[in-house]
Amino acid sequence: MCGIVGYTGYREAYPILIKGLHRLEYRGYDSAGVATLGEDGKLKIYKAVGKVVNLEQQAEGNDHSGTLGIAHTRWATHGAPNERNAHPHLSQSGKLTLVHNGIIENAGILRQQLSSKGYTFKSDTDSEVMLQLIEYTREKHKRDLASSVRAALKKIIGAYAIALIDEDSPDTIIVARKSSPLAIGIGENNSEYFIASDASPIAGYTNRIVYLEDDQIAVCRRGEELQIMDFNAMRVEVDAKEIDLDVSMLDKGGFPHFMAREIFDQPAVLRECMRGRLLTAHRRIVLSAVSGHREDLIGARRFIMVSCGTSWHAALIGKQLIEEYCRIPVEVAYASEFRYSNPVVGPGDVVFAISQSGETADTLSAIQLAKERGALIFGIVNAVGSSIARASDTGVYIHVGPEIGVASTKAFTGQTTVFAMLALALGREKGTVDEKTYEAVFSELENIPNKIQSILDRSDEIKAIASAYAGKRNVLYLGRGMNYPVALEGALKLKEISYIHAEGYPAAEMKHGPIALIDEDMPVVFLANSCGQYEKILSNMQEVISRGGDVIAVVTEGDTRVKEIVDKVIEIPDTIDSLVPLLSVIPMQLLAYHIAVAKGLDVDQPRNLAKSVTVE
Ligand code: G6P
Repeated sequence: MCGIVGYTGYREAYPILIKGLHRLEYRGYDSAGVATLGEDGKLKIYKAVGKVVNLEQQAEGNDHSGTLGIAHTRWATHGAPNERNAHPHLSQSGKLTLVHNGIIENAGILRQQLSSKGYTFKSDTDSEVMLQLIEYTREKHKRDLASSVRAALKKIIGAYAIALIDEDSPDTIIVARKSSPLAIGIGENNSEYFIASDASPIAGYTNRIVYLEDDQIAVCRRGEELQIMDFNAMRVEVDAKEIDLDVSMLDKGGFPHFMAREIFDQPAVLRECMRGRLLTAHRRIVLSAVSGHREDLIGARRFIMVSCGTSWHAALIGKQLIEEYCRIPVEVAYASEFRYSNPVVGPGDVVFAISQSGETADTLSAIQLAKERGALIFGIVNAVGSSIARASDTGVYIHVGPEIGVASTKAFTGQTTVFAMLALALGREKGTVDEKTYEAVFSELENIPNKIQSILDRSDEIKAIASAYAGKRNVLYLGRGMNYPVALEGALKLKEISYIHAEGYPAAEMKHGPIALIDEDMPVVFLANSCGQYEKILSNMQEVISRGGDVIAVVTEGDTRVKEIVDKVIEIPDTIDSLVPLLSVIPMQLLAYHIAVAKGLDVDQPRNLAKSVTVE
C-alpha cells in the first residue's frame, strides 16, 4: 500500500526522503514521487512510474535542495499507475502539495462540486480532490492551513493519512490521519520531525515516536513543540513512545532477497519470540496477557479469531491448538467477512486479532466492531505500537523483527509459536492439559528452532526440485489436520510470488472435486509427514498417482513407504503433531521462493500485492 515520508529540520530533506521511500518499498507500490522546498521558496516535484530508483534518475542533476519535503510510494486505487497520478499532487494555486495513503469514498461528488467552482484536475486521483478541497476551504474562509485542513477533512468520507506542505511555510508539515497509519519521529529539542507510514524510515534518526490516532491533525514545525489536535480543534497531549528499532534488521543481511533472509532467520527469531516467555529452568510459560486476563480467558464463552491472508492461516492453526489444549470453542473468520456479517459477538467473547503489520484495515475495523459490542480484544501482532496493537485490550507481540518481503514467512511461524505457548499456558491454568503433554510440547518447542535449521540446511535439495516446476500453470497442495492450513499457506506462497495458480485443500476433500483436475500436468504437493492421519494421506496419494498426477511429498525423516511410490520427496524432522506446521511450512516457503527465483520474478515485491493493506 502507499507509503508516506516527510521531513522538516536542519538537514537536506531529499536523501532522508529517498532512503525512507526505499525502506517503505516492501509495502508494495507502482509509482513514486518527492517534493522539496528549497531556499528560493519554490516547490520542486519529481515523479516516476515503477521503482524508487526511477524516481532518483528523474531527480538526478536537477534541483532537489531544501530542508523540508514530502515523498510517496503509490499503490493505485483511483486512476492508473502513471506519472500524472503519482503523488505529491499540487494544488490549483501551485502553493500546496500533498501525499495521501488511503481511499476517499466521496471523491466523485467532491470532484463535481469543486469543478463547478472552477477547479480543474490534473490527475484521476481521489487524493488530488482532497488537496483541492483543502485549498478551496482555505481560500473561501481565509483561515490558517491547519484549520482549513480540519474543516476540509470533516467533509471527507474514507480512509487517509496525509502529509501536506505549503510554499509559504518553509518549516512546517501538516499531517492527519483516519484509519491509515502515520508515525511522527521527534528529533532532539524538536529541532526536526520525521513523518512516515511506519517507524522503519525513522529508525536510526530518533527513537521518540508518536503514532497519530484517528481524527487527529498534527502541525510539525521545526524548532517548535509538536502540536496535535482533534477534528474539533481540541489540543491532544503528545504521547511519545521510545521505540527501539534495530536498523540492521532493515537490510537483506547478505541474502539476495528479504524473503530469503526472513526464511533463514526463522530459527533465530523464533528463539527471540520465546525468550523470556518459555522459562526452561522453571518449565513455565510466562505471558503477561494470560496472567493479566486469566479469568476473562478461562471463563470465555468462546474465542473468535479475525485476520487476513497468511495471518488467517495461522489462526486456523491457533484454533486447533487452543481447542486441543484449552477446550475452548474457537471460530476463525476472515476479518473482512466478520465485520459486515452483523456478527453475534459480545461480553464473554474474546476476539483475537492476528496481524503481522498491525495495520490491516479489515482486521482493525473488525476489532473495533467487536470492542463496541463488549468483547475483549486480544492482539497477536508483530509491529510494535501499530494500530491493531494499540486498539487491543491485551495481547502478545510475536517479536520476530520487521518483515519486509511481501510474502509473509517468519510472521507465520512467529504467530504459530505464540499460539502454541498461549494454548499451553492457558491449558495449564485451566487444567485441561495434563502434565505429560505439557512437558512434551514444552520440550519440543525448545527444539523447534534447531529442527527448522536442519530443513533450511537442505534448501539446495528443494531448489533442485523447484527448478522443474517453474513452467507449470497450476499446483495443488493437500494436507490433513494440522497440515491443512499449511497446504493453504503453501498454495498462497506460490501464487503470491510465482504467479502460478495454486489451491490448497484438505486432502480428503480432493475426491469431491479437485480430483477431476489430476493429470500429468498437475503437480500435487502432499504434506505427508506424520501428523496423525498418515495411512489416510497415503491412500489419497495413491489416488493421485494412479491418475498420472505428479507428486512432491513432504515426509518425516526415515519414511520409506512414500519413497517407494514417489520420486520427489522432501524429508523433515519428526515432531509432536500439534507443532507440525512449524516444520512443514518451511519446505512450502522454500519451494515457492526457489520457483519464483527460477522464473526471474521480483520475489520481495510481487506485482499488485501490498505488504500492509490499509484499505478495505
Ligand atoms: C497482505 C500481505 C500478506 C498478509 C496479509 C495480512 O495481503 O501481503 O502477507 O498475510 O496482508 O496482513 P497482516 O499484516 O494483517 O498479517
